[in-house]
Amino acid sequence: MKTLSEPDELRAAVAEARRAGRSVGFVPTMGALHAGHLSLVRRAREECGLVVVSIFVNPKQFGPGEDLARYPRRLEADRELLAAAGADILYVPEAARLYPPGFSTSVEVGGVSEGGEGAIRPGHFRGVATVVTKLFVQVAPDAAYFGRKDLQQVAVVRRLIRDLDFPIRLVVGETVRESDGLALSSRNAFLPEQERPRASALSRALFAARKRADRGERDARALETDTRLALEAAGLAVDYVEAVDPATMERTDTVRTGIALAAAVRIAGTRLIDNVLFDSDSERSRP
Ligand code: PAJ
Repeated sequence: MKTLSEPDELRAAVAEARRAGRSVGFVPTMGALHAGHLSLVRRAREECGLVVVSIFVNPKQFGPGEDLARYPRRLEADRELLAAAGADILYVPEAARLYPPGFSTSVEVGGVSEGGEGAIRPGHFRGVATVVTKLFVQVAPDAAYFGRKDLQQVAVVRRLIRDLDFPIRLVVGETVRESDGLALSSRNAFLPEQERPRASALSRALFAARKRADRGERDARALETDTRLALEAAGLAVDYVEAVDPATMERTDTVRTGIALAAAVRIAGTRLIDNVLFDSDSERSRP
């Protein structure tokens, strides 16, 4: 595995692979890698000839007072995990290179970025869309791999790909979880050990809502309300619980196949997000 930090070196390496007829798969990350990230890398490895993974803690997607300064950085451990998962190129651009002085362009995806996380983290998806656009231009992959855990991010990237005519196939990987159901996240490292049982209430409440929908509940408001109550009863501060159509991120009144229940909570100063899809077999074996 090669580690590159210069866009020109990256372009040259990708061009060489292309000349050799290899397809290019790309997994953008912010590092502090865990099994969720690595599942995307492995999937890219199965499907593509060249696998590029980026690690860049993107300052533009963190709001003032968010956790940019303390976001975990573990480049050496990440490098080993990526080599073992079969990545070919680790791209680690420098902030001053991606955003040189005078940088003043941003990419704003309307509609899908406005509710949910977008409402609570103003500017977050502008930062995500801007960096993802730059990385897509630099890597020019055939396929890009994103995790369903960040449901709204997937909607934003799908819209971005369509609206800006990127010839990129979007591949969405299922959420990888701990044995107690907690979705893996680099931010889980911030959770004090004694808060872990409370943190697992998030996925438990979402899975309970899905079970109720399986048994016939179709009223999205009832599921939202009861999920919120369950989260509050577990001692979690709830930012939102919303039944949405993952394609548009619009709220829905009625649960049907493909609708998602997405939630965000705060626990001991850390924000956790998670979601489940209704009427989906993809996560049936999970808690
Ligand atoms: P990051 O949080 O590092 O996540 C990188 C990718 O891993 C995202 O597509 C995310 O959805 C996926 N991922 C995270 N946890 C996962 C889990 N438990 N199961 C499956 N996939 C999971 O998302 C970002 O970085 C950034 O916003 C980025 C897209 C890199 C732009 O800066």
